[in-house]
Amino acid sequence: MGCGPGPSAPTISTMRVGVMTSGGDSPGMNTALRAVAKVGAALQFDVVGIEDGYLGLLERRVRPLPLKELDEAFRKGGTVLGTARSKIFPTVDGQAQARAAILDAKIDALIVIGGNGSLAGALALSDAKTHRGETLRVAGLPGSIDNDLGATSMCIGVDTAVNTIVEACDRISDTASAHRRTFIVEVMGRDCGYLAMTSAIATGADAVLLPEAGRSREQCIDQVVRAIEAAHTRTKEKRRVLIIKSEGVKIPPAELKAAVDERVKKTMPDVDTRVTVLGHVVRGGSPSAFDRLLASRLGNAAVRALADGETNVMAGWIGAGVEGRVSPHDPQVALTPLKEVLEQTDKLLRGETPLAKWRQRVFAEAESILLA
Ligand code: F6P
Repeated sequence: MGCGPGPSAPTISTMRVGVMTSGGDSPGMNTALRAVAKVGAALQFDVVGIEDGYLGLLERRVRPLPLKELDEAFRKGGTVLGTARSKIFPTVDGQAQARAAILDAKIDALIVIGGNGSLAGALALSDAKTHRGETLRVAGLPGSIDNDLGATSMCIGVDTAVNTIVEACDRISDTASAHRRTFIVEVMGRDCGYLAMTSAIATGADAVLLPEAGRSREQCIDQVVRAIEAAHTRTKEKRRVLIIKSEGVKIPPAELKAAVDERVKKTMPDVDTRVTVLGHVVRGGSPSAFDRLLASRLGNAAVRALADGETNVMAGWIGAGVEGRVSPHDPQVALTPLKEVLEQTDKLLRGETPLAKWRQRVFAEAESILLA
């Protein structure tokens, strides 16, 4: 006799894998669902979808995930499973209910596609018992437009979001140039300025306001005024002035505009400022080619990790600052324990990881070049 799984352990052909999308949606979630369903089917898993994230799990909303549906949806934004931010699940009672739901639904393995809070939920369930008396196998995929997770250089949806911002800013730039206007454009990113910084470089913005810079309200106003002054010097004489502001910088954009207008009204009376908040526009749309590849490869590696008997890992994209174990199925994918992912995420957001420090330095350098 070999040393295979014990009598109650799920064999690959009987393993039931539940997959959910959770937290803020991001373009490419449907592509990741398709990868999980297709690779799962190829490995003889019974892959089922859990609707609306942890909320749907608590309400036992588990359904088949037909490949036909995903072959249509994989190139569309949003998520066919729906998503939610459950208030009950994070509580002790909520997690007890989730464990009971896993038993009832006869789920052997769980794949969670989402951000920080969603992966914390996956970790919390990683000691749940299955109907076979086994421990639930759990894997995570990073889905968040903010690029605010550790252990992955890119999250699913980030590339599409940057492209959407660039397209929107190009359109804004057309009308800004026509009217010789200054635009303050706010982009999403609750605690992380990645979207703001990368889109500022890609749009040739004149200044970027980032939470990572840690500036006070007055310093932010100063920064915008200096950018407008620099753009209006005789050597530059720009018709369009573009300021990208991250949502993570907690000054309401209208308040920022009013304060800047007040400061420049005497010295530069012709400056005409407008505000655009891109908001949720940035979270929708068809996933870019890169996001489709990323979601497919991470989904493939996550399912295969579960098939290999692994648990409690996130499949992340290897790049600057990512040091997880390389997946045996994809040299570009790192498998990192969920606990470590969450610790690295905390450090990233506190600016303490080498990647965060590198980003801060690059952000500062890019900003001085923008103002030069
Ligand atoms: O998904 C992340 C994010 O898009 C943040 O950038 C933003 O602050 C937040 O979600 C918005 O969440 P909601 O959709 O709940 O308003």
